[in-house]
Amino acid sequence: MGTRVAEILRIDNISFRYFGRTNEALKNINLRINENEIVLLAGRSGSGKSSLLRVINGLIPFFYRGDFSGQIFFYDEDITHIPPRERTKKGMATVLQFPEDQILARKVWRAVAFGLANLGFSREEIIKRVKEALKCVDMWSFWDYDTLALSAGQKQKIVLAAALAIQPHLLLLDEPTSQLDPASAQRFLISLKIIREELGMTIIVAEHRFDELSTVADRVILIDDGRIVANGPPRKIFATELPGKLGIGYPKLALLTRFLAPDSNVFLGLEELKNELRRRNCVIQRIDKESKRAHPKGSRHAIVLDDVWFAYDGEWVLKGFSLSIREGSFVALMGPNGAGKTTLLKLIACIHKPVKGQVFLFSKSTNNLRLKDVVGLVGYMPQNPEEIFFNKTVYDEIAFGLRMQGIKENEVRR
Ligand SMILES: Nc1ncnc2c1ncn2[C@@H]1O[C@H](COP(=O)(O)OP(=O)(O)O)[C@@H](O)[C@H]1O
Ligand SMILES: [Mg+2]
Repeated sequence: MGTRVAEILRIDNISFRYFGRTNEALKNINLRINENEIVLLAGRSGSGKSSLLRVINGLIPFFYRGDFSGQIFFYDEDITHIPPRERTKKGMATVLQFPEDQILARKVWRAVAFGLANLGFSREEIIKRVKEALKCVDMWSFWDYDTLALSAGQKQKIVLAAALAIQPHLLLLDEPTSQLDPASAQRFLISLKIIREELGMTIIVAEHRFDELSTVADRVILIDDGRIVANGPPRKIFATELPGKLGIGYPKLALLTRFLAPDSNVFLGLEELKNELRRRNCVIQRIDKESKRAHPKGSRHAIVLDDVWFAYDGEWVLKGFSLSIREGSFVALMGPNGAGKTTLLKLIACIHKPVKGQVFLFSKSTNNLRLKDVVGLVGYMPQNPEEIFFNKTVYDEIAFGLRMQGIKENEVRR
């Protein structure tokens, strides 16, 4: 027998309809959460994420009125009839989506100390915790600021600090990064793991930033129209069609996995994905303006670039670029905007010719080839499809390439 994992939260058959609404916001929710888990609540706007968090902290049904049914347990204690304030004392803290709703003091340090004072902590303890919490969100230097003078993102950090200062067992975060700039949001979400480790918290977070959270969360709960429609580890959930169908999207790495290794039944971390691609004999090469040779193993060379230089209007894009790709390879070109990916493809497709150096297609230098000579050798699909459409109909467009190769009209039609 392994060690028993403590269940921190259990939700049994909870439904809720806001007063005055016809549709239920939550429909028969059943959910169990273990101590120390980080759980991501995902779903489109209006799916019920905030409502579920309100059920947990007691704002539903104590503040939001309506038809409520079901039961909720916190560490095996039935808290269904316990109001939010008492739930806070038992070890829950919430960060609401809109920080203005939660800042109840004029001074930053007071706003953070507010909850602690209510919980009856000593002065020394309050000072220590306020300082720690403000440092945790990079806001210590603002301790004496007027809260009205803060930006929305800074306010959000103050509310986060106030929640962390309580050191709750269960931390509920409702889109906690909605006001933060991308760098702060990323730093905060990644720090959730450290917060969990150091303070031994369980965290439930409603968020749309899946890139960070898919690596931080242990579990994803997908909500749609008030129902839990999927519940499992991020690697599994983001490998399914469901997030796409719901229109909430995927972490970028999951998209890359779906594209490059579509038969994989989980989405892969970057290193795993690289290994998987190598296993499939894909060439992975970093494209820099000055690139080194790739040495793929296997069949004959399909494409060779030898010391290729290329410039647009005097601006060098490729400076002595060399690369060889064997027949049968599947190569992903990756690099930041402006690295030269499209230029490289156009050189291979014979749309551009090198200023210096040579491109070889199946050992033939493209210097002497014309666009029509490469039809049938290279198919090029541009970023913007309009670049290649010059026929009036879809039929003529598709037939064009075939006609260029001298294929007879009845074969073209087929
Ligand atoms: N205060 C409220 N009064 C009435 N209806 C509400 C209220 N808050 C949310 N709803 C409704 O409940 C449903 C779920 O909303 P919500 O929980 O806010 O979803 P999410 O947080 O996923 O965007 C929606 O249909 C929404 O319109
Ligand atoms: Mg919400």
